[in-house]
Amino acid sequence: MANPEKIRVVIVDDISETRENIRRMLQFDPKIEIIGEARTGKEAIEFASKLLPDVIVMDINMPDMDGLVATEIIRRKHPHIQIIILSVQYESGYMRRAMLAGARDFLSKPPLIDELTNAIRRAGKLAIEEKEKAQIASESVQSSTIRAGKLGKIIVVYSPKGGVGCTTIATNLAISLQSELTPTVIVDGNLLFGDVAVFLNEQGRNTILDLAPRVDELDPDIIDEVLISHSLTSIRVLASPPRPEYADQVSADQFIKVLQYLQRLYEYIIVDTTPYLTEVVQSALDISNLIILIANQDIPSIKSTNSFLSLSDQSGINRKRILFVLNRFDKRIAISPERITESLKQVVEGVIPLEEKIVTTSINRGVPFIIENKSSLISKSIYAIAEKVKEKIATQLEEKE
Ligand SMILES: Nc1ncnc2c1ncn2[C@@H]1O[C@H](COP(=O)(O)OP(=O)(O)O)[C@@H](O)[C@H]1O
Ligand SMILES: [Mg+2]
Repeated sequence: MANPEKIRVVIVDDISETRENIRRMLQFDPKIEIIGEARTGKEAIEFASKLLPDVIVMDINMPDMDGLVATEIIRRKHPHIQIIILSVQYESGYMRRAMLAGARDFLSKPPLIDELTNAIRRAGKLAIEEKEKAQIASESVQSSTIRAGKLGKIIVVYSPKGGVGCTTIATNLAISLQSELTPTVIVDGNLLFGDVAVFLNEQGRNTILDLAPRVDELDPDIIDEVLISHSLTSIRVLASPPRPEYADQVSADQFIKVLQYLQRLYEYIIVDTTPYLTEVVQSALDISNLIILIANQDIPSIKSTNSFLSLSDQSGINRKRILFVLNRFDKRIAISPERITESLKQVVEGVIPLEEKIVTTSINRGVPFIIENKSSLISKSIYAIAEKVKEKIATQLEEKE
């Protein structure tokens, strides 16, 4: 560490002149060191992870992601980093939102020199205290460590028909289940054309191909090395092979061994799948603790769901292990959840609304909607499903006892 006694600051503003002004105000303060300048919310998140500053001075209105969303994401990932929001005075409603997002301070633009340096010194002191506390706490818990006692739960997201929303739901659900106490990993079980990494904007790194040959010698370090850390949340990602011709280099046996090893490290292992019942998908369904079965509100989807349910009855999958979710729900369409429940003899336990714009934008940007549109109806429906998941798992545990 270069200057351990200095407060390390990152400035975030899309206008270079503003950044320059702030830099000038701080340049002669012996306790403050500016270690980076970011121009957008996304860049701020990247810099936060890369540079681990003590304090971030953050603008609100920026092109790609506003400063409040960035604040919330950074605070969730790095609780020790303190954020000071700079805003034009009349945006007073932002103050409350800034505090809710976890900002430490709120100054109007342009700030007075004293005001700014005092705020940074206060925030810096707190950051250093928080960092020390976190270090003490993390000496016992590391990111990929064997969790004593109970095994994590394998949750397979499946639909017998393509394009109904499995990957959308798997990615958003994984993020909503993730917490400090419930570390979560998402595994792409679509070995041919997997797109989980694309949905999370995290392509081009390690994949399951790096684990398959080593399934009999796995340890937390290997797993840590191969799993991608999603940069906007702390979920981990096990991506599918980079090219379809590599798919057959991963056997079902290897895939299952990886899932079972992940159970020792993570609370929730979310597996995205394909409609086609490859050996990999079938074995994942077999060993799963919970199957999230997705259907849309149309006859072909309902029909194939019905066929899948008879098949799973035959294979001895208990219906209680299935959490049936209707995606792209539009109340103007006559096929209601009640009617589907009745005709399939399987209760629709989750309903996700049709939200063309939010979903398409989020997929194209590679930012799951649960991050940026937290309070939208569709995100609330995902949280409700996460609660259902926990409920069902708790019931399973009770019944076992
Ligand atoms: N609730 C929804 N509202 C609107 N569009 C949706 C919704 N869920 C999924 N989609 C759209 O459906 C398409 C397929 O979704 P995807 O998650 O890739 O399905 P699958 O993994 O089952 O093939 C995507 O283009 C996505 O934008
Ligand atoms: Mg998919």
